[in-house]
Order: sequence, then structure tokens, then C-alpha cells
Amino acid sequence: MSDNGSPTKARPRVFSGVQPSGNLTIGNYIGALRQWAREQYHFDSFFCVVDLHAITVPYDSADLHTKTREVAGLYLASGIDPEASTIFVQSHVQAHAELTWLLNCITPLGWLNRMTQFKDKAAKQQADSVSTGLLDYPVLMAADILLYQADAVPVGEDQRQHLELTRDVAQRFNHLFGETFTIPEAMIPPSGARIKGLDDPTAKMSKSETGSEYHAVYLLDPPDRARKKIMRAVTDSGREIRFSQDPEKAGVNNLLELYQALTGESREAIETHFASARGYGDLKKDVAEVVVAALEPIQRRYRELTDDRSYLDSLLAQGAERAATVANKTLETVRERMGFLKPYA
Ligand code: TYM
Repeated sequence: MSDNGSPTKARPRVFSGVQPSGNLTIGNYIGALRQWAREQYHFDSFFCVVDLHAITVPYDSADLHTKTREVAGLYLASGIDPEASTIFVQSHVQAHAELTWLLNCITPLGWLNRMTQFKDKAAKQQADSVSTGLLDYPVLMAADILLYQADAVPVGEDQRQHLELTRDVAQRFNHLFGETFTIPEAMIPPSGARIKGLDDPTAKMSKSETGSEYHAVYLLDPPDRARKKIMRAVTDSGREIRFSQDPEKAGVNNLLELYQALTGESREAIETHFASARGYGDLKKDVAEVVVAALEPIQRRYRELTDDRSYLDSLLAQGAERAATVANKTLETVRERMGFLKPYA
């Protein structure tokens, strides 16, 4: 056993998750899933479908049920190898809910009130219907990560503040009760960590944005729909195709970022490639083709998988069992350090 009560890890550990709400977008793929698949063999990886997070805003229970399987299927279709990584559903491992409560009691309310995602999501609802769960969301996320003693957490840019809070909570616990938790690092990809909305390139592309059907390309969009969305992407009235932080050029910059993230080419090579383009139409056509090419194998694998639902369900059952073994060990140490009486001799 190491100092922090977890079994000594042979490889560094990774933990990450996606909420089963809305439709997964190309942003989720580039910012998270693709990174997980690429890095999984270097780590002892845990990938979780975070269903308890998805109920912090008003939701439909039938939808939650369907989306939970869909997200797990998309993990596999995006290249997560169940032989190498543990895939499971958050609510199947009860330690997540229990550690959340314990951490709640050492997390100052002021830390949660400062979270920008809470403020953004709360602002979209009637003030008197915002749930306590929405405010507490980052503590549940901290519990997810800390239960597995994760060293690294591969996420998009929008999760950076939640990761900071996780580190703060872990440090506070370690300070109060002795070294218990590994302090995790955020692992944010160098390009594509914040893909913007196609209809509004000043806002993050989001799977829960339902305002416009041209906001996001979904991982399960048929090729024609994906192409149409890219061709309709908001740009500007100019013609210059270059990477730029100028807010005026946010739309073109976003398309170039998508292109870069999916082709892996350098910025210089991409700008040279588009130097002879006749206008934004040419840019959009090329972006649409690389997006469709990226979606094709994901959709093919997804269809194969969903033909056999029992395969996915048994994989999730095995994943939950493996995850619970690790999580329960941490929880036991936490309970002991916090002074709880053991329930039996
Ligand atoms: P969620 O479900 O909103 O998003 C899942 C992952 O996708 C990334 N992402 C993006 N990356 C690039 N561009 C975008 N437009 C974009 N939109 C989303 C997110 O950064 C995330 O990595 N709180 C988390 C879920 C969670 C979690 C965790 C993550 C719960 N517990 C523990 C890591 C570890 C969330 O809402 O992700």
C-alpha cells in the first residue's frame, strides 16, 4: 500500500467522464474521447458515464436511460478498448454518492458559488428552480476523480476550473485528515480543447444547446447533415483564411481549429493549403470532408455494437465491479480517517 491508502499503481491512473445528456458533439470527441483513446495504453484508465451529473438540471428519465447506453457505446466506438480501460456507469458504483457527501462537509460554500459553469447554467433557469445538485456538481466531480486516486484527468478547456476545485478539495482533506488523495493534473489537448458553436463562434459548442439545429455536429449525424451544418457555419464578411484571435474572425478560426484538430497538420501548412481558396465556401467544404471522414468509422463501430445490446450491458457490469473495488478501498480509508466507526467488527 502507498501512503495514501491506495494500492501502489503500476501505471499512472486516468479518470474522465461524459454526461449522458443531449447528443455527443464533435467537440466532445476532439476535447475528450479521442484523447482518451489515444492515451489509454499509457495509463490505467477509468472512463465513466456520469449519469448522476446529468440529473442536476431538469431532465427526462426515459432519455437518461437511452443516453446512458448511447454514451457508453460511443466510448467504445471512439476507440476505447475495454480490454485496456475500465468503462462503467457512475450510479452503479455507490461510493461516488457517499464520498460526495463526505467531501461536501469540508468544501466551503464560497468555492462552489464562484464556479462559472454553475453561474452560466443557473442563469438559464428560473432562479427558484435551480437545484442544490447543480451547485454541488463540482464536489461530485471531485469525488469521481479522487476515489480512483487519478493522476491525470483528460478534459476540454471548460473543465479546468472544476479540476482546480478538485485539487483544492483534495488538498484540504489531506491537510485536515492526513495524506489520503492523489492531487490530480488536468490533461488538456493542445488543439481543439474548446471547439465553438457553428451558429455562434463566441460560445462553446455544447451538447445541451438546443436553440439552433445548426449549433453542433453530433457524432451520430448522418454525413449529409454534418456537411450541411458546416456549410452553414457563421463566418464573417471577409475572405482571409488564417488562424486569428480577432473576435471578428472567430467563425473562420473555429473551422480552422476543427481542421487542425482532425488532420493534425501545422497551422502554417493549413494556412498555405487554404491560401489559394476562392472563399470561405472552399474552407467549409474541406472542413466538412475531414469531419465526415472522422465520423464514419465511429458510426460504423457504433452500429455494430448496438446490434448486440447484451454485450454492452455485460461490459458495463464488469466495469462497475472493477471500479467499485478501487473506489471502495479509497472510501474505506476516507471513512477511517474521518473518524467513522466501522459498521462491523
Ligand atoms: P461534459 O459531458 O460537458 O463534456 C465531456 C467532455 O467533453 C469536453 N468538451 C469539449 N471539448 C472541446 N470543445 C468543446 N466544445 C467541448 N465540449 C465539451 C469537456 O471538457 C469534457 O471533457 N463535468 C464533466 C463531466 C465529469 C467529469 C468528471 C470529467 C463528471 N465527472 C470527472 C472528468 C472527470 C462534463 O460536464 O463534461
